[in-house]
Parts: sequence; C-alpha cells; structure tokens
Amino acid sequence: MGKPQRIGILTAGGDCPGINAAIRGVGKTAIVKHGMEVYGISSGFSGLINKEVQPLSESALSGILTLGGTILGTSREKPFKKSGNLGIDKPKIIKKNYKELGLDCVVCIGGNGTQKTANLLAEEGLNVVGIPKTIDNDVFGTDFTFGFDSALTIATDAIDRLHTTANSHKRIMVIEVMGHHAGWLTLYAGMAGGGDVILLPELDLDIKAVNRYLLDRAYKKKPYSIVVVAEGIERPKDFISAADYIAAMIENGTKIETRKTILGYIQRGGSPSPMDRILATRFGSHAVDLIATENYGRMVVNVGGQTSSVPLKDVAGKTRLVPTDHSLITKARSLDICMGDVCIV
Ligand code: F6P
Repeated sequence: MGKPQRIGILTAGGDCPGINAAIRGVGKTAIVKHGMEVYGISSGFSGLINKEVQPLSESALSGILTLGGTILGTSREKPFKKSGNLGIDKPKIIKKNYKELGLDCVVCIGGNGTQKTANLLAEEGLNVVGIPKTIDNDVFGTDFTFGFDSALTIATDAIDRLHTTANSHKRIMVIEVMGHHAGWLTLYAGMAGGGDVILLPELDLDIKAVNRYLLDRAYKKKPYSIVVVAEGIERPKDFISAADYIAAMIENGTKIETRKTILGYIQRGGSPSPMDRILATRFGSHAVDLIATENYGRMVVNVGGQTSSVPLKDVAGKTRLVPTDHSLITKARSLDICMGDVCIV
C-alpha cells in the first residue's frame, strides 16, 4: 500500500460551532502539507451509504473558519443499528462505497455516537480517524471538545441577562441548559453566570433542600435567585422539561414567583468562539498528521492542554460525565452555591 492520497470527511450527530473550522483544518493540512485529495461526504454516515460526496478544493475551504453549523450537513444515521434498517446491510454498503470511491481514510467529526460508529467501521477494516465535537463536552478521553466554549459563552450571556429582570421582579428564574446526560455546560455556565443553585444530572437532587436554601436567601433579603438546571436531570415522566419540573417544584415549595427559560438550540448556533476555532483547527490538522503516518483507528484528543490521540476502541461507547468530586463543584460549595444535594443553610 502506498502513502494515503485520498481522504473523506464527514460530520455526524448534533451540530456545534467549530465544525467548519475543523473541516478547514483537515482539508488545508491534507492539501497543503501532504498533497492529498479531499472529499466532503454529505450528511454524516448517510452520505457514505448514499455515496453523496464532492471534492473539496483548497478554495472551497476558504472563508468557513468563522461559520457556524457544518458545510457538509449532518444526520443522526446509525448504520450499525439493526432496528429500522429494513434488512439493508448498511455497513456492507459503506464498505463497498469506500472502496469504489478510492478512499484511504475517513475523518469522522462527531460526538460519542459518531465515535462509536467510527470504531465499528474500523473493526470492519476501514481506515478511520475520529475528531470529537459537541457542546456537551462529554466525549470520553478528551478534556475538551470544540463547541463547548462557544455554547458556554452563549449560556453565560443568557444567565447574565436573567439577573436584571429577576431583580426587577424579585423572582426566582430557572434556566435550562443543554448537555444531554452530562452536566458540564450547566456547571461551567452556572459558575460563570453566578447561578445561586446549579443542578447537574450527576448529583442527587433534594428539592426540599433547594427550597429551604431559596427561602433562606429571601429571608436574608436577597431580592432574587437564579437556578441553572441541566436538561438531563432525572424527573417524573409527566414533566416534559427539566425547567418545567424544577420551576413547578420551587414555586409550589417556596410560594415565590418563579419563571423558566429553556435556552435550547440557540446554544448550538452561530459563529464559534476564538478558543473553539483554535481547538478545532488543532484537532483537524492533527487528524491529518495521523493519517499521513498511517496511524488509523484513533481519535484526536486534548489532554492537559496538549493535542494527542487515543485508540478509538478505548473511548467508543463511553460517556464522560462530571465527576461528583470535580474541583469546580467543590469550589461552588465553598461559595455557598446550592448544588441540589446538600445545601448549606
Ligand atoms: O449533543 C448536542 C445536543 O445539543 C444535546 O445537548 C442535546 O440533548 C441534543 O444534542 C439535542 O439533539 P437533537 O439535535 O437531535 O434535537
């Protein structure tokens, strides 16, 4: 086998700011440094199944660094999932198309689900390299994913804005932050935005303790309170959202007027932050250096501030949750921020 010459890039799962910066990092490094040909695969793994690819020239990669979303499109297609596949052997089709397209490697940019599929494709004999992205920051094996810093900036700005209206009306404001089953975005945005109560899926929730804490704040003449809650907290089935549940429990328990805000997809949209642009560029460029040395079946990571890589098989199928003894949780408790389990009152 000669040196790798033709690579494909796909973006799968929920989008986030910084994906285009990563595509640019992959593409430009591949073309300029290694003289490779680059193909963009449309709509995640669907594009590999339907053979929807287009060549990406260097000029096609110009001007996309600051763009939100993904120029390639994305989907939540899971080719290895048996149900709903109507007996179609999608992995077999992918292998056939990969061969017919003459690809030497596919760079899979995505979150946990994408890295799991990338690993399964590697087990099927395809050359793949993974790049972790998500606003949730929950990809196992890396300290940070790009998308997280941009979403953190947006969520923090939203919380900042709630302070003034909460103060005017002397209300409790509940704000729900994304993050799937992980509380990273809620923890960081809650701390950066000066949340009084921060509720994470990783910690137990004692709503009575939360209400005692909020009533104590009112007793101490604190005019309002901000409650930052992760979308993934456990709740009874009859509550559609975490914010609905927490706001209802608080208003019932404290009799203080309570309002809720669900931030939603605003957190995932728009231009990436400077830190995300840099992380995504580093990840993209590093992925191609791995390909150039035929170091396949790996995912690029950022550990201790350094870019490196880990075997996909070591991270696939795992989720990185917030450790219950995380230093930021300990610091929050030191500042008398209520974390929902035990509140110092
Ligand atoms: O993984 C990113 C994320 O935005 C999560 O925070 C959220 O739970 C999920 O995607 C929403 O997924 P969808 O785009 O399928 O609605």
